[in-house]
Amino acid sequence: MNSGLTGILRRAAPQPLLAVVVLASLLAIWTTAHDSRPPAAPAVLSANAPRVSEERCAECHSDITDTFPETPHARTLHHVSEAGIAERFAGRSFTHPQTGARFDYTLEDDRLTVSTPAYARELAIEWIFGSGTHAQTPLITWTDEEGRTQSIEHCVSWYPTGELAATLGTEALPDATGVQALGHHRGPAQTMNCFGCHSRYVPNTDGRILFDHLQAGIGCARCHWDVEQHVAEMDAGEEASIERFAALAPREAVDRCGECHRRAQDMGGPIEPDDESIARFAPVGLVQSPCFQQQDEVRLPSGEPVRLDCTTCHDPHRPSSNDWQTYVRSCLQCHGAGHDNTSVCSSPRTEQNCLPCHMPKVPANEHLEFTDHWIRVRSTAE
Ligand code: HEC
Ligand code: HEC
Ligand code: HEC
Ligand code: HEC
Ligand code: HEC
Ligand code: HEC
Ligand code: HEC
Repeated sequence: MNSGLTGILRRAAPQPLLAVVVLASLLAIWTTAHDSRPPAAPAVLSANAPRVSEERCAECHSDITDTFPETPHARTLHHVSEAGIAERFAGRSFTHPQTGARFDYTLEDDRLTVSTPAYARELAIEWIFGSGTHAQTPLITWTDEEGRTQSIEHCVSWYPTGELAATLGTEALPDATGVQALGHHRGPAQTMNCFGCHSRYVPNTDGRILFDHLQAGIGCARCHWDVEQHVAEMDAGEEASIERFAALAPREAVDRCGECHRRAQDMGGPIEPDDESIARFAPVGLVQSPCFQQQDEVRLPSGEPVRLDCTTCHDPHRPSSNDWQTYVRSCLQCHGAGHDNTSVCSSPRTEQNCLPCHMPKVPANEHLEFTDHWIRVRSTAE
């Protein structure tokens, strides 16, 4: 068991009981304080516009506000009027490989429309989900007879290769006639949720989204929920009491990201090691890993704990790295000189990419793959 933690690391000495008691009472205080935090979705969907502008953050945190707009988070929802967005579909035609339905996209007077023979009307596309790092999918919205916003998640998406192809999950559509010929129908609540996880703020009334005031893309306040108080404190020259991620227990920190990326406890059933579909939900896999579960047994020689949560590998203020070495550096924090299986890992450990064996990419469809965040010895590892 111990062999993986060679190199700079050693097992932590057993904690004295006192520390456990202190920790437990701190946890109780923290839990109480934490209860006042509003859940993310109702906040973003509330009728009240955020009272603090993100522009204010730049006054004091310009290092972060300089890079943040480049992140997929900031760019995860687009109105078709944005430069370069409609062009990804405009003037093109596509035949869905599974349903055989043909789609034609036209851009006229800044209006992007889609038509298909199985549906008599042309429909306008106004919103395109996804930054384009992995995929972009149109959500076709309309107002129903009761004044609520409903939508179709279009069965065709744009992929970074420049190709149009089937949207993940549209391999089999319920029927290929009527408006459903264009994709999966999303009712008012689901439509609200799509915008909810991809926006800063979604003003709405009685199930109707007030698009004129929607703030597309994820912003600072989605993760730093208490910024309003923070800015008031800063303006008053007080000390910052804003919540710090580093002060949260690792599981709580991961669950914050899990508000959108999904949490293990949201999966509603046992989590099976060979279920490849959970690769899409990074937090669900990560918390199954022995690395995550046994992290508090690891100490640096200085006695400092080594922490494993999402920010060990991802800086939420910058686009995530494509360079495997940045990730392997974090493995080596805990696995020092790699592991003892010399027949498998005989090359110098720092030059070795652990990811294809222990965090492989799992294809979700022909154009989309997700990284398996359940770090482990996989039965398929070679
Ligand atoms: C070519 C595939 C491959 C690569 C690359 C690889 N591993 Fe492994 N690793 C394995 C396999 C297979 C096992 C299971 C060996 C066994 O059980 O005998 C394993 C076992 C482990 C274990 C648990 C067993 C032990 O010896 O403690 C750890 C920890 C580990 N690897 C860490 C790493 C790290 C860190 C890296 C990158 C520096 C890495 N591995 C690179 C295939 C790989
Ligand atoms: C007037 C200056 C000022 C403004 C405006 C401001 N901040 Fe801060 N912020 C600070 C200072 C000072 C700290 C405390 C730094 C410390 O104690 O380490 C801080 C701390 C923080 C922290 C916690 C840092 C940590 O160590 O975890 C976050 C998160 C944060 N600010 C986010 C924001 C966001 C988001 C905005 C915009 C809505 C914002 N701030 C606006 C000055 C400001
Ligand atoms: C408000 C919802 C929300 C929250 C909270 C959230 N994410 Fe995301 N995240 C998204 C969405 C939506 C995307 C897809 C972005 C796109 O369109 O490519 C994404 C994408 C990502 C990506 C991939 C981006 C890339 O560079 O390829 C990473 C990594 C990521 N999130 C990490 C985190 C971490 C870490 C946290 C917590 C600190 C977090 N997310 C919290 C919604 C969220
Ligand atoms: C619970 C929050 C949540 C909801 C609800 C949600 N998304 Fe996302 N979405 C995410 C996260 C997190 C990612 C990034 C990781 C991933 O791909 O799953 C993402 C990624 C995407 C992407 C980028 C491609 C991809 O798969 O990475 C598209 C397109 C997208 N979502 C569209 C939609 C649409 C359309 C809806 C409504 C039918 C929707 N999302 C509902 C959280 C959400
Ligand atoms: C996806 C979630 C997410 C978003 C969006 C986000 N942050 Fe953060 N932020 C974090 C996390 C997580 C940390 C803790 C990072 C760590 O401990 O390494 C953090 C730390 C900080 C800190 C203190 C640490 C530092 O690096 O100086 C500041 C200040 C901050 N954020 C400001 C902002 C501002 C301003 C924005 C908007 C432009 C923003 N954040 C958007 C998740 C987020
Ligand atoms: C915070 C410290 C920490 C980090 C970071 C970390 N691990 Fe681990 N890892 C552990 C601990 C603790 C264990 C369980 C004890 C052991 O197997 O030695 C473990 C176990 C493993 C195992 C064996 C799992 C099994 O199925 O038995 C593998 C493989 C592994 N780690 C690979 C990695 C790789 C690859 C990375 C980087 C992507 C990484 N670890 C990052 C602490 C960490
Ligand atoms: C041990 C390192 C590590 C940790 C911890 C980690 N990730 Fe990742 N993550 C990666 C790697 C490696 C990639 C693939 C990067 C690439 O190839 O572009 C990735 C990619 C992603 C992506 C892009 C889609 C995909 O699946 O490839 C998302 C979203 C993501 N991570 C979210 C998260 C969230 C949320 C957490 C916390 C639950 C987290 N990650 C923790 C290493 C990590």
